[in-house]
Amino acid sequence: MNAIIRTENLCKAFGANKVLDRVSLELPEKKVSAIIGQSGTGKSVLIKTIIGMLKPDRGRTWFRNIELSSLKPSEMIAIRRHFGYSFQNAALFDSMTVGENLAFPLRELLQIKDRAEIKERIAQMLEWIELKGIESKRPDELSGGMRKRVGVARALISQPQVLFFDEPTTGLDPVLSETINDLVVRVNRELQLTCVMITHDIPAAFRIADKIAFLDRGAIIADGSPDEIAVSEHPMVKDFLRISFCELKSGK
Ligand SMILES: Nc1ncnc2c1ncn2[C@@H]1O[C@H](COP(=O)(O)OP(=O)(O)OP(=O)(O)O)[C@@H](O)[C@H]1O
Ligand SMILES: [Mg+2]
Repeated sequence: MNAIIRTENLCKAFGANKVLDRVSLELPEKKVSAIIGQSGTGKSVLIKTIIGMLKPDRGRTWFRNIELSSLKPSEMIAIRRHFGYSFQNAALFDSMTVGENLAFPLRELLQIKDRAEIKERIAQMLEWIELKGIESKRPDELSGGMRKRVGVARALISQPQVLFFDEPTTGLDPVLSETINDLVVRVNRELQLTCVMITHDIPAAFRIADKIAFLDRGAIIADGSPDEIAVSEHPMVKDFLRISFCELKSGK
């Protein structure tokens, strides 16, 4: 396996709250990885620590052969453009139109100044997420699912190498969730990008991920292909999967 991102013994606490406990993880290049686990267990903190939004207390992270944890903040800014991040709350700027939201990373991250080029890239991106022509709409005029897709588009437009999705389907109906999951698969297959997805949708993780990492109270307790995770003997993993798949059967 060719890991594009690697962490070694990552630790992160907020005061007395020990959130990450020696997390060592490899995320394979050009594959879909899913990070699953209970609420509040440190999944978002793990991703934020990897991309440098949070500083680890201990441990190391690599992007290819670059050790991120040893970089100065100014050096990290240059690396960050290789990462796209679609936030848990699809944090679009509500005061800006969709077009302006998408122009932001082009100007800030890629330093593109040419207005025609910006316009063209935005139009292409909206077409790609099947929301052609909504440049002038404001986020509050969109449905939840459209906002999520625009959030993904904003993470994608700067052409990152790794795209992190933090719960892209939470709060969406099953049909829209499927659309977003399909979008993740398309990003991976058609654009050949590495995708890392935090999700509570366990059946979807099993369907689309090549690798699943199970986080419990800040520690990785299972890590492998969906088939390997499915036969994990860890009691916590067994319980979690039993409940997740039972809910699916009972139509909850
Ligand atoms: N910036 C912060 N300052 C202080 N504590 C934080 C901060 N960010 C996260 N935490 C704490 O870290 C713990 C893990 O949070 P995290 O957001 O990673 O959980 P999660 O696994 O993503 O949960 P969910 O599935 O609900 O999104 C929580 O106890 C949370 O309160
Ligand atoms: Mg979270």
